[in-house]
Amino acid sequence: MRFAHQLAGDGDLELSPWEVDMADAMTEVIVANREHLMRFLSWPTPDYNRDAAMAFIHQAQRQYADEGILALGIWERGVLVGGIGMNTTVWRTRSTALGYWLAASAQGRGIMTRAVRSVVDELLGPRGFERVVIAAQPENRASCAVAERLGFRREGVARHAFRHGDRFIDWAVYAMLSEEWRNAR
Ligand SMILES: CC(C)(COP(=O)(O)OP(=O)(O)OC[C@H]1O[C@@H](n2cnc3c(N)ncnc32)[C@H](O)[C@@H]1OP(=O)(O)O)[C@@H](O)C(=O)NCCC(=O)NCCS
Repeated sequence: MRFAHQLAGDGDLELSPWEVDMADAMTEVIVANREHLMRFLSWPTPDYNRDAAMAFIHQAQRQYADEGILALGIWERGVLVGGIGMNTTVWRTRSTALGYWLAASAQGRGIMTRAVRSVVDELLGPRGFERVVIAAQPENRASCAVAERLGFRREGVARHAFRHGDRFIDWAVYAMLSEEWRNAR
């Protein structure tokens, strides 16, 4: 099943699986937001270019075809403003983690909260996941706030769970279970 639809409640945002013809838009927004994104993410490197975007898109398409791993662009009225997707996924325990990013100019308007809500609806609903994790550096207040706003429970801090360049970084771990999500909706 493909996952491309208008987000619930309004028609201005759309989540779409990455396609090859999105590589230029992806490169442009990531290069323009490199400094902003590099603060908390490791993949937007100083030399990020179209080849990197294309490699990501091909990998995303393979992972979707092979395992149903979602990787989606976030489009606001036809303009690419961010991305959201599944990271570490453990099928045996029906558990997955979400990663996401927004262009700096798209922040502060609730876009990511709406995108995460929509993806979690899908994962803990039709796709049968039991647990969705959001992990963020404790200093990444904006990212932690997305999880907190949606009612994810903070389970603790996983020490040195992430590597950013040559530094090991702690992660605040938030999780939502299917029953909690159903009860809160
Ligand atoms: C993490 C990131 C996606 C959060 O973006 P964001 O804009 O703060 O998140 P949202 O889109 O959910 O918007 C929330 C903000 O919009 C406001 N808002 C306005 N309308 C809203 C609505 N309808 N619903 C929710 N929030 C709303 C909120 O009050 C909040 O603003 P505040 O921070 O001033 O309180 C963004 O900062 C980012 O891309 N950072 C760099 C990459 C990164 O860190 N990724 C995560 C790695 S773990």
